[in-house]
Amino acid sequence: MKPLTPIRFLITAGPTREFIDPIRFISNRSSGKMGYALAEAARAVSSQVMLVSGPTALTPPKGIEFVPVVTAQEMSDAVWARFEQSDIVIMAAAVCDFRPKAVAPQKIKKTRLGGGLTLPFEPTPDILAELGRRKKSQTLIGFAAETENLEANALDKLRRKNLDLIVANDASAFESDTNDVTLISAAGKTERLSAMTKTKVAAAIIRRAVELRS
Ligand code: CTP
Repeated sequence: MKPLTPIRFLITAGPTREFIDPIRFISNRSSGKMGYALAEAARAVSSQVMLVSGPTALTPPKGIEFVPVVTAQEMSDAVWARFEQSDIVIMAAAVCDFRPKAVAPQKIKKTRLGGGLTLPFEPTPDILAELGRRKKSQTLIGFAAETENLEANALDKLRRKNLDLIVANDASAFESDTNDVTLISAAGKTERLSAMTKTKVAAAIIRRAVELRS
């Protein structure tokens, strides 16, 4: 068996939920599979793996620190509480970009609304961008789910958020077990991984992440 690395991993997974009232929320199609596969791949090389996860139907991997969260704000708080104790941070979560400006304290009653419902939204904290601004020795990896101009948009995101590596994937990979992804490093190295299971993609990402620190 290979010796474990002392590298400490912080990985996020799944969607977040942003509440409208006590029983309604907006979210997205993320299943969490990629982030959980990454946590398992990291556990194969390190005994220090933290997984911060939004709500998913998956069972948390054994032998890691599992931190369940619900909203983007909770994910942000959980990540910042652990950032200094991390060496490689992988933001695989599909964090909601917007949330309702206010959460109604009681269920919004249809009968009181009349016609439709219009809600003001505000941006959530961009966790990855802030990590990029404040990182010290950490290796920072982000995901870019795009529906068009995949590589150009991903490269732009890598530069804007000051990342070391970005995993570009087509948004159609949501909920799927396989993935076509392109890894783009800050140094400009591009690696295409086609029609691989999320388990294999995860192992390749962890390998690249560890390489970036050597
Ligand atoms: N992300 C984050 N916090 C947010 C939104 C996104 O940390 N509030 C992270 C995701 O975990 C992912 C990366 O940012 O690693 C890319 O997210 P994406 O939504 O694709 O990018 P945006 O910056 O929102 O850009 P755009 O909406 O223009 O595609």
